Amino acid sequence: MNKSTTLREHLNEQAWQLLKNTIIYHHNQPIGTVAASDPTVEALNYDQCFIRDFVPCALVFLIRGNTEIVHNFLIQTLKLQIKEKQLDFLEPGRGLMPASFKVVADAGNQSLRADFGDHAIGRVTPVDSCLWWLFLLRAYVKVTGDYTLAHQPEFQKGIRLIMGLCLSARFDMYPTLLVPDGACMIDRRMGINGHPLEIQSLFYTALCAAQELLVNNAENADVNLAVTNRFQPLINHIRRHYWLDLERLNEIYRFKSEEYGEAALNQFNIYSDSIPYDQLSRWLTEDGGYLAGNLGPSHLDCRFFTVGNLMAILSGLASEQQSQKIMNAIAQRWEDLVGCMPMKICFPALKYRDWEILTGCDPKNRPWSYHNGGNWPVLLWMLTAAAYKTGRPELAEKAIEIAAARLEKDDWAEYYDGKNGRLVGKESRKYQTWSIAGFLLAEEILKNPDAIGFMTFKSYIPNHE
Ligand code: GLC
Repeated sequence: MNKSTTLREHLNEQAWQLLKNTIIYHHNQPIGTVAASDPTVEALNYDQCFIRDFVPCALVFLIRGNTEIVHNFLIQTLKLQIKEKQLDFLEPGRGLMPASFKVVADAGNQSLRADFGDHAIGRVTPVDSCLWWLFLLRAYVKVTGDYTLAHQPEFQKGIRLIMGLCLSARFDMYPTLLVPDGACMIDRRMGINGHPLEIQSLFYTALCAAQELLVNNAENADVNLAVTNRFQPLINHIRRHYWLDLERLNEIYRFKSEEYGEAALNQFNIYSDSIPYDQLSRWLTEDGGYLAGNLGPSHLDCRFFTVGNLMAILSGLASEQQSQKIMNAIAQRWEDLVGCMPMKICFPALKYRDWEILTGCDPKNRPWSYHNGGNWPVLLWMLTAAAYKTGRPELAEKAIEIAAARLEKDDWAEYYDGKNGRLVGKESRKYQTWSIAGFLLAEEILKNPDAIGFMTFKSYIPNHE
């Protein structure tokens, strides 16, 4: 065994020990992991278990055969889901799941206290939690073969409520989900309200999971039909209208505006002056492309958002050809998108007046910091899984090597700053659990690429393609 293999094994072992130390117990049962264990700063809510943060941890536990913690997590978080309609309508909608929860002890009694964004900074709505929960339930069922858990009446009801929340009639004409700003991993104001890609990719993933897990019976008939009916419109909408490559940029650049009626080519009335076409025409490579960040009336957000693009590959929301082009973009714009730590949460950063208006002058989200163009180690697992799904393992290996050289030295930082991600984030936590789990998960995929089977879905091919 050579020296670097031994070092990597040592690193893996260290990460695994750290991950195990983050486990939270409820009545002596493991039920989740804290978000971070940084002894040097006030915990705020980082001592809680976040649903989105637990996902990579859960996948590592599943791969390593520790299925019990994931089983308990799924059961306990399902109990926290909003089940009843509130008469004052001030409570969150039925089906919603909290961003995070913690175990509280009251007179010797332990209970779980959930945060639906009612305590979180900025009072942001955790739309993504219920979508991640479904993704994880499906992964658990695939790994363990335990369909009976998902088929239990409470679980079927939970899935129906999530789908009901996503698929019910609303003030919107699009097949995508309309959400407020900060409703996902980016949980601060970042100008992503509307129809952000991250939510759409997770919504599609949740639809796939629901289709696999909902039993075919009379009680589920309506929801099953609604799920089936949403696939095609959602896929067509995203693959067509969110897609950006040189060819599409050229079309948008020459768009006519103010078109009325069904035959309009520029359906969303995008004004080409609102598109950074000069930068984009230089940044896009011949065979690269990606899904844009958001789409609405006269609004196409051309920023590259990583979770949305990578989850579109894993779920099959992006077509196979688009998936290859997204990976080409990552490979050819490596310095911008991966740089010194895999990988950027979005690119490019908002600057000057855009930063002032769209973030509300948020100092934590200064250009190239935190959510505004920071680099997040947790994204390594999605990059690795997407690289394997598209047959590009060399990209995963290169990214993991970069991360392995720094993560331990930097005490498993939460995020990195700077245009190329060279600086440890200004307010970054140390010992951030999903940085540890993201690395371990990437390593597990590298050792056993078949594991991506329970994090991915087959590409859906619309009838007319
Ligand atoms: C930050 C991140 C969020 C994460 C939380 C806990 O708020 O923006 O995505 O879930 O920290 O790590």
